[in-house]
Parts: sequence; structure tokens; C-alpha cells
Amino acid sequence: MIGEIPAVVAGEAARQETAGSALRPILVFDSGIGGLTVLRELRTIMPDRSFVYVADDAGFPYGDWEEAALICHISDLFARLIEDIDPSMAVIACNTASTLVMGELRQRFAIPFVGTVPAIKPAAERTRSGLVSVLATPGTVKRDYTRGLISDFAQKCTVTLVGSRHLAAMAETHLRGGRVDPAAVTAEIEACFVEEGGRKTDIVVLACTHYPFLANVFRKLAPWPVDWLDPAEAIARQALTLLPQAAARLPDGFDRAIFTAGPVDRATARLIHGFGLSG
Ligand code: DGL
Repeated sequence: MIGEIPAVVAGEAARQETAGSALRPILVFDSGIGGLTVLRELRTIMPDRSFVYVADDAGFPYGDWEEAALICHISDLFARLIEDIDPSMAVIACNTASTLVMGELRQRFAIPFVGTVPAIKPAAERTRSGLVSVLATPGTVKRDYTRGLISDFAQKCTVTLVGSRHLAAMAETHLRGGRVDPAAVTAEIEACFVEEGGRKTDIVVLACTHYPFLANVFRKLAPWPVDWLDPAEAIARQALTLLPQAAARLPDGFDRAIFTAGPVDRATARLIHGFGLSG
């Protein structure tokens, strides 16, 4: 399952490019292209910084991985990424990974890590009906971490956890210009809409970074309007507070994207180019 980091980014050339503490980029990591929803907010809030986006498409989707195997896989991948990219910090733009591996990454590596976890606390603060749903991968839904967020911050709410097997892949298809079947999307999101004692779900937490790319599709298919909560901006603000002074924009540098499975198809190349990333 562990993909090789393409030779073009590995080794001395990459190290030289990012050498020197003033030139160290911020690494933004996801299993696929969902983390681009976080990258766009990071760039808005830190326009003078340099980023390397890493999509672990060799391991995608993370939602079904067994927990111990996923921890080892991501931790070992990071050992190579940190060696090759020498980032000043890393943003784990993936709920499925963050709810599992943050402790291991922080223990093993010296750089600051910012995670992405389900926005249950802000949802509990904002809901008026008291009915909140969390739409996530099957992995995120079953994590102890997620259950902990509910018991710590949302005890007064009814929280419905909805684990979707297919939405992350659908978001990838949608973003590459492919067709997504509305009936299939409806089947994935309908459990989010709960009616109880005259009250209705009013907030759905988008607890997978892929899902904001489908938010407009969700809005059209929803049986009633809800607030689709995307935490990307909050993650970017958190990253800004932890940003070491050493991180800075590379002179004349485009931000780069790395796909762990190797060369990407044309649609993906177009997509990353559209995000201002070089392959
Ligand atoms: N984008 C990832 C997340 O936030 C997960 C997608 C997947 O690998 O299933 O959870």
C-alpha cells in the first residue's frame, strides 16, 4: 500500500530547493485532493508562504483502513516526506488521519503539526434545534477521538454520526470534472437529516476535507436547508498561530504537489495546475 515518493521530488534536489531555515515550506497532507479545501484557506490567510501539497493517493481511501496499519503507514510516509521536503510545519488536512495519528506524529517528529478534526464543538455552540449530524468517512465515525469530542462538547445535543463509504471518491470524481449520480449522493447523505419531536437537524458537520467540494450538490439534494459546516478556515487560523517565523515563500517558486502513487492522469494534472501547483 505504501507508494514511493516520485524520484522527481525525492533526494538532494528537493533538499537543496528547500534548504535554509528561511525557505522551508508548509506541508499540507491528505489521502487525496480533499485537502485542497484547506490549502485554499491557508493561502488566503498566509499569502506570502510556500506550500507543498502531498496527496497519498497510493493509500486512498483512508476511510476503510485498519487503525494500527494506518498509523504505521502515515508515520513511515512522514519520515520520508520530512527528510525530502524539510517542511517548517505540517497541516494534516484529513480528519480520518488526524483523529488517529496526531499523537504519533508529534511524538516522532520535531516540527509543529496542525490537525483537522470534526467541528463538533462549534456545531454544538451554533445549533438551535439541538440536532447535529457529522458526515465523515467510516474511519472518522468510529474513532474514540470523535466520540470524545461529542462527550466533551456536545452532551446537550443529539449528534448523529454518518459514515459514508463513497463520498470521498465521488468528490474526487466531481473535482476532476466527472459526473456524480445525484441518487448515489442522496443515499450517502440522507441519514444526516433527522426529525425528532418537531425539531430538525440544522447543522451538518463536513468532517472529511473532500466534502466541501460537494457542498453545492448537497445543498440541492438536501430535504431541507441546513448549515454545512466546513472547518477549513478555522484550521488555517490555527496554523497561522503555530507558524514558525522560519516558514517563508520560496523565491519565484510555484507551490508543488506530490502524489505518492506517482505520475497523475491528465484531469488531475489540470486540476492541480488550476490550484496553482506544479507537479
Ligand atoms: N479527506 C479525508 C478526510 O478528511 C479522507 C478521505 C479518505 O481517504 O477516505 O477524512
